[in-house]
Amino acid sequence: MDLVVFLGLCLSCLLLLSLWKRRSRKGKLPPGPTPLPIIGNILQLDVKNISKSLSKLSKLYGPVFTVYLGLKPTVVLHGYEAVKEALIDLGEEFSGRGSVPLLERSNKGYGLVFSSGKRWKEIRRFSLMTLRNFGMGKRSIEECVQQEAHCLVEELRKTNASPCDPIFILGCAPCNVICSIIFQNHFDYTDQNLLSLLKLMNENVNILNSPWVQVCNIFPVFMDYFPGIQNKYLKNSDNIKSYLLEKIKEHQESLDINNPRDFIDHFLIKVKQEKHNLHSEFTIENLLYTASDLFAAGIHTTATTLRYGLLLLIKHPEVTAKVQEEIDRVIGRHRSPCMQDRSHMPYMDAVVHEIQRYIDLVPTNLPHAVTRDVKFRNYLIPKGTTILTSLTSVLHDDKEFPNPGVFDPGHFLDESGNFKKSDYFMAFSAGKRMCVGEGLARMELFLFLTIILQKFTLKSVVEPKDINITPATSGLTSLPPSYQICFIPV
Ligand code: HEM
Repeated sequence: MDLVVFLGLCLSCLLLLSLWKRRSRKGKLPPGPTPLPIIGNILQLDVKNISKSLSKLSKLYGPVFTVYLGLKPTVVLHGYEAVKEALIDLGEEFSGRGSVPLLERSNKGYGLVFSSGKRWKEIRRFSLMTLRNFGMGKRSIEECVQQEAHCLVEELRKTNASPCDPIFILGCAPCNVICSIIFQNHFDYTDQNLLSLLKLMNENVNILNSPWVQVCNIFPVFMDYFPGIQNKYLKNSDNIKSYLLEKIKEHQESLDINNPRDFIDHFLIKVKQEKHNLHSEFTIENLLYTASDLFAAGIHTTATTLRYGLLLLIKHPEVTAKVQEEIDRVIGRHRSPCMQDRSHMPYMDAVVHEIQRYIDLVPTNLPHAVTRDVKFRNYLIPKGTTILTSLTSVLHDDKEFPNPGVFDPGHFLDESGNFKKSDYFMAFSAGKRMCVGEGLARMELFLFLTIILQKFTLKSVVEPKDINITPATSGLTSLPPSYQICFIPV
């Protein structure tokens, strides 16, 4: 038999086998669009806005459906009920981390964000405790954020009320907060180390958000054939890790176990305490990857929310005026804002929630995976299946938030103007894998935005009606379009 015919026959058999395998499993998995061999449902997904494609599919297949990302079945949960049922009611079963091939190649299962099982549980517990104040040496996390808020104001003053793109300054502040927590460094906003760390992280965020990487995440084999982007990402991550490793080494030399200064010191103490335990997760490798996870997860998220938030505030001057009136009334012009003020500032609280709801920063959440075979509604989801939870579908639910596409702090206020909590506020996700930095991020958003509005009048360079607020990209995260703003001292 001719070799070409033989190869053709083998390929056809393989295709048939893969289709048959899928069909036999399909009986247990939720329904979904029929996948094509090898490419699965890629043609039904817009890689520039996967969240939107999933919302369209949910109209046809309901709140629980399966899409094939290449050969891989992925269960999508759409709408509050399904997301809550999985992440909260069946929290343990849905607490695995789904695969993001590019990130897996860089993280290799170490650290916090991309680990699972015992490693994830122990490192998560430790990180939560450390971030909840006990890890900051003599200063509280609130003091650290307040100090950074003052640096931010000084930096904004230096713009002399002229138009500027705030991307860089708003990136420095959260970066400095994370650096203070991890290795007690505070950088001047012109420091070369800070500038290069931010540059590396911004490049990686842009890579992760590119449609090309969405395709590679579906077909990891593409990364091997076109390795350029992957190599750039891995090189940037390695550079960040080298910098962190230097810091870890410095800390090892100066560690005083009775006087831990920061996150690295606390972790090193655990490493020492568990040095006789061969299976300990408290290793230098896990410290390095966890510190780099906190960098990757904690800077861009807060910085983008601040940047998108200011864009929304210049688009809606009537909202800004109301916030400033509340700040004048509760804090005045001179006292520094503190977290206690928040309970007396329902309008500001609602504005921060509405910014996060409206911008829908992580539209399809980070992927989860089921940790064992799970019966979910009438389906059986096999262990290890990737789960995508649409946070967009919860944050933009039109019953909970009438006119979800409109920026309106009223979504979080009752008739008397009191702050109104909503279970649908899942910007930080929900359940066991929910954002570890939620408390810190909320503190930064409240204190930074409040002090900016206390000290400056915001001015747009174009009429509010002409300001574009649609996301520039919507991949792993939603990014605002770039814009110019003037900070005029009050
Ligand atoms: C506005 C700011 C932020 C938003 C909207 C946000 C959102 C999220 C979301 C949606 C997840 C995925 C949760 C899941 O898998 O179900 C997550 C995970 C995570 N976030 Fe945040 N985050 C923010 C700030 C931060 C900060 C400041 C830190 C660092 C201190 C941080 C650290 C983490 C970590 C370590 C994880 C992984 C948790 C795990 O896998 O167990 N985040 N975040």
